[in-house]
Amino acid sequence: MSTIFSGVQPSGEMTIGNYIGAMRRFVTYQDTHNCLFCVVNQHAITVPQKPDELKQSARKLAALYMAIGIDPKKATIFIQSEVRAHAALAWIMTCLSSMGELERMTQYKDKSQQHGKNETIPAGLFVYPPLMAADILLYQTTHVPVGDDQKQHLELTRDLAARFNARYGETFSIPEPLIAKSGARIMSLQTPTKKMSKSDPNNAATIFLLEDLAKTKKKIMRAQTDSDGIVRFDIENKPGISNLMTLRAALTNETMDTMTAAYDGKGYGDFKKDLAEIITETLAPLQEEHKKLMDDPIVDTVLNEGAEKAHALAEQTLKKVEGKMGL
Ligand code: ADP
Ligand code: NA
Repeated sequence: MSTIFSGVQPSGEMTIGNYIGAMRRFVTYQDTHNCLFCVVNQHAITVPQKPDELKQSARKLAALYMAIGIDPKKATIFIQSEVRAHAALAWIMTCLSSMGELERMTQYKDKSQQHGKNETIPAGLFVYPPLMAADILLYQTTHVPVGDDQKQHLELTRDLAARFNARYGETFSIPEPLIAKSGARIMSLQTPTKKMSKSDPNNAATIFLLEDLAKTKKKIMRAQTDSDGIVRFDIENKPGISNLMTLRAALTNETMDTMTAAYDGKGYGDFKKDLAEIITETLAPLQEEHKKLMDDPIVDTVLNEGAEKAHALAEQTLKKVEGKMGL
């Protein structure tokens, strides 16, 4: 049976991009695959975090996994730092990587640019991809559902797995990415040429899954669009409305042509109002479920059991790897 692994960083509030590009899809795999869904808190510390907040965010994200429908009876939910093998294999993956291939990672280039001087770039940002490779490879993962932005990291993961196998003998499965056909890259509401991200300092640019839905509505109404007022999908010339259409298509399965026809003669205002309604209908039940879970000790039980299961699996791979390397 194939194995699915994916993770999300507990580094702030989850966005509708995280939901559509990754988390929502996790639910669809749990009946047919071995699934492990991880709260990757060690990735979150590549930039400074407040300890109390980080701890809170990890539990909150685990509760969100459950609120969106991941069933702990069908899938393993756990926190990365509770399974020591992640950090241990990450070191090995780092040693297997070269400076050149890590320097080529576009996420590193983007994030390190924000620091300007080389002196102050956190080294963790640089070795983030080998940690991600370790996360995936520990579980003999065959498929990784991720958003489009993680494609390059997954390519590196495949290279590292193949390199290890070639050097030390067959050890790792080579994982395939599962990128969604629609909604793989939801863009910022304010700068629709940039991906929507939970770390965007501009609050108006991002729809957060757990935010007050009146706020969500305002953000959608104020989303950047062009001035010609025609609801038509054209990423290059009309990135704003195209992004809103992508969001809607991901939630309703409507085609772009259907939407264009339905809003013929109407403006962006009508489209935005309807989109806000659709998003509210999607997020309201999820928020209610999440609120209940936050007060429920079941989340802690699930995380403890999840860590135990993940630990047992991860140790098997780590022992094999260390044995082959003479460690
Ligand atoms: P972020 O970039 O918001 O901090 P993470 O790095 O934690 O998110 O990514 C978690 C998952 O969500 C990954 O699979 C990633 O590909 C996906 N993802 C993140 N942002 C988006 C987006 N704007 N559109 C689609 N998927 C996304
Ligand atoms: Na990301």
